[in-house]
Amino acid sequence: MSKSILVTGGAGYIGSHTVLLLLQAGYTVVVVDNLSNSSEESLLRVSRITSRAVKFYDVDIRDYDALERVFKDYKFDFVIHFAGLKAVGESVNQPLSYYRNNVEGTLTLCRVMNKYNVKSIVFSSSATVYGNPDSVPISENFPTSATNPYGRSKLIVEQVFQDLYVSDSDWNISLLRYFNPVGAHPSGLIGENPSGIPNNLMPYIAETAIGKRDKLSVFGGDYNTHDGTGVRDYIHVMDLAEGHLKAIDFLQESKGLHIHNLGTGKGYSVLDMVNAFSAVSGMAVSYEIIERRSGDIAECYADPTKAQKELNWTATRSIEDMCRDTWSWQSKNPNGYSD
Ligand code: NAD
Ligand code: UD1
Repeated sequence: MSKSILVTGGAGYIGSHTVLLLLQAGYTVVVVDNLSNSSEESLLRVSRITSRAVKFYDVDIRDYDALERVFKDYKFDFVIHFAGLKAVGESVNQPLSYYRNNVEGTLTLCRVMNKYNVKSIVFSSSATVYGNPDSVPISENFPTSATNPYGRSKLIVEQVFQDLYVSDSDWNISLLRYFNPVGAHPSGLIGENPSGIPNNLMPYIAETAIGKRDKLSVFGGDYNTHDGTGVRDYIHVMDLAEGHLKAIDFLQESKGLHIHNLGTGKGYSVLDMVNAFSAVSGMAVSYEIIERRSGDIAECYADPTKAQKELNWTATRSIEDMCRDTWSWQSKNPNGYSD
């Protein structure tokens, strides 16, 4: 019988790509999502691509009773926990909402998991837990710190999992620290669907290329980097999604609590991304270099060696793949899922 996986936040950007691969790998997949930052259309398209059904529950993970009903309907082998809020700026203005969704939501999920004796979980953490690192590349043993409520919510949840594991070693926990996810499924049918003005670089570039935005503001041209603009570790969302399947395989062989960076190990600047996107799409991306964005750091990229060795996972897709697939999604769906 195929293994059953509960995916929280599975209608969202990274969740929908991971659900797709889980279905293709033969898992039974159940999604809970309150659709606060997504649309059920993503899952309908995943079903279309895979010719497989996804069971969907419109449930808020903070709702213990509603979540419990899902656990009564299915006996899960694993949980992949994506659900949460992720906008750094918004978290500064709405900290309570971030702690409620990201921390309280995770606590409620873990309480229900405990009750139903489902104790294997993969959690979406973030490179943001490294704060302002002293050097790059960043490995998992670097000190952690938070510079905003979003980052703090991730750190708190990581700590909750550490404590939970100390209290009960039956738990199997994979904390995955993502670097900068970009790109889309190569079909162009699913992708990142930000609401309103994008905060992150890649969707902003794509919306500029398609004419929804006049020009990109490049935040800072005087960093100590090869061209003065900020450097990040952009990782194709399909590589990231594959990392989750590898993490599940690993958890079955290596019980315990594990932390892995999911990044490529390569750093690209803002202008590298703009130039690659223009070359691949054939579209001009106007930009203007303005002052630095508060809270930004010059360089952030992963040392991915631990994930390579332990998970047997490596990001294989190039910057051109990232740009091509983003453009395919953007040009086929100029208004995201509302088209
Ligand atoms: P996303 O917003 O597209 O997906 C998150 C999903 O969770 C959405 O579908 C949303 O509707 C759902 N959700 C939010 N609160 C919920 C709640 N209380 N109950 C049920 N569903 C809820 O974001 P994403 O980019 O796919 O990110 C997924 C996870 O990865 C998040 O936890 C995010 O913090 C983390 N992460 C994302 C990035 C990134 O840059 N995209 C980087 C590092 C970590
Ligand atoms: C953001 C989050 C971080 C999260 C990470 C991965 C912020 C402040 N930080 O990081 O918590 O872990 O995503 O998802 O949101 N840029 C521009 N113009 C733009 C947008 C971005 O020049 O309009 C630059 C930024 O200054 C940065 C790079 O592009 O150098 C990437 O920015 P972004 O996509 O927002 O990601 P991060 O800041 O790395």
